[in-house]
Amino acid sequence: MKNKLILTALLATSALSAQAQVKPEDAIKWRQSAYATMSWSMARIDANLQGKYDKEDVLKAATVLQAIANSGMGALYVPGSDKGKGWVDTRVKPALFTDGPKVGKIAGDFNKAANELAKAAAAGDAGAVKTSFEAVGGTCKSCHDDYRTK
Ligand code: HEC
Repeated sequence: MKNKLILTALLATSALSAQAQVKPEDAIKWRQSAYATMSWSMARIDANLQGKYDKEDVLKAATVLQAIANSGMGALYVPGSDKGKGWVDTRVKPALFTDGPKVGKIAGDFNKAANELAKAAAAGDAGAVKTSFEAVGGTCKSCHDDYRTK
């Protein structure tokens, strides 16, 4: 009984510190890595749409995009990560930290488009993949236009 209490207390503490301990430098690295991986996946789908369509290849890439879109990347915009260096100097604009509803809207559109893309990819429907691929690309662009420096 006593051990169980101690264990519960330990788990509660480590969950708290896992939240608190994300260093800005790590948060910037992780988000830059996630974005770069999405860039790879978008290029991969684009190549399939331009050339010979391979259902499995498209599905692999779309699954990565869907997973990252639903991963809750907002958690990587920790206080103090508006400036500084991850793999490279951060390009986030300060407005991302203050435009809550507008950022939330773009993030929601992005999630929805990525989920639709994954569904179309699983169905092997190249036409629907093209439509949702363009929708995803549009959400990448709208966020970059407003919240990423050149
Ligand atoms: C909700 C906003 C948002 C969305 C949606 C978004 N990005 Fe970004 N992206 C950013 C921000 C902010 C940065 C700058 C991150 C930093 O340097 O800290 C960035 C950086 C990047 C980078 C540069 C990474 C690096 O190595 O520095 C690439 C590539 C990128 N995004 C691709 C994409 C692609 C592809 C998509 C869509 C599939 C996408 N992004 C969706 C906000 C967004």
